Amino acid sequence: MKIFAHRGASANFPENTLPAFEEAARLAVDGVELDVQRTKDGVLVVNHDERIHRTSNGKGHIADLNFEQLRKLDFGSWKDEKFKGTQIPTLEEVLLIFKHTHHVINIEIKTDVVPYEGIEEEVIALVSRLGMSNRIIYSSFDHTMVEKLLQKAANNITGALFEKILVNLHAYGKLIGTDSLHISLEATKRGVIRDDVSKGGIFRVYTVNREEDYDRMEALGVEAIFTDYAEKMMNYRASKINSSS
Ligand code: G3P
Ligand code: CA
Repeated sequence: MKIFAHRGASANFPENTLPAFEEAARLAVDGVELDVQRTKDGVLVVNHDERIHRTSNGKGHIADLNFEQLRKLDFGSWKDEKFKGTQIPTLEEVLLIFKHTHHVINIEIKTDVVPYEGIEEEVIALVSRLGMSNRIIYSSFDHTMVEKLLQKAANNITGALFEKILVNLHAYGKLIGTDSLHISLEATKRGVIRDDVSKGGIFRVYTVNREEDYDRMEALGVEAIFTDYAEKMMNYRASKINSSS
């Protein structure tokens, strides 16, 4: 089972910032996950929320702020004083960290709240300019975006993200054109979802931070987990492999 560092090494570093991704790049983790938003003046930035008050000393929507305004803010102190002054990163800055590493990069396009018209073309163009197209998995909770990505980045995997319980995920995936289904850990507690997982397809599960949940996901046969505790999960996986050999 593969392990993705969710929002970078986000348990110990401010999520979706360069320190969190630098730490993930240092780890032998299989991949990394990040969230893309777009500023008022059209810069692609990495941040989970559409609004910035939770993870910075500012407030407002990213879509209403210019990049220069955002860059003046502190996206580190909320996590720990030692990260004071950490800036919001651009998507390009984050991707460059992984340019020469082995990591698969899951770019989640956050158009489920703010539509960010045409953002997928900008992301795809950037990834292509950096020569990293073959390392990217796209995903979105916005399934019209999933459909666009399946067309415009046809050589990439695009996962449809789900938070809630759905009957017959496979049929739904087929309808929109993907067999990559990114589901919540919560959803896997339901029998209907576990039945779907056991029927095949490619399931990646977020956010798996406990060893007992790692074991459950492995037993279910999911392809990958997203975790905030990348290093801990890597060590856990290694200990399981060692003890079985
Ligand atoms: O991509 C998996 C996971 O990140 C989706 O949920 O809310 O953490 O972006 P969220
Ligand atoms: Ca995400």
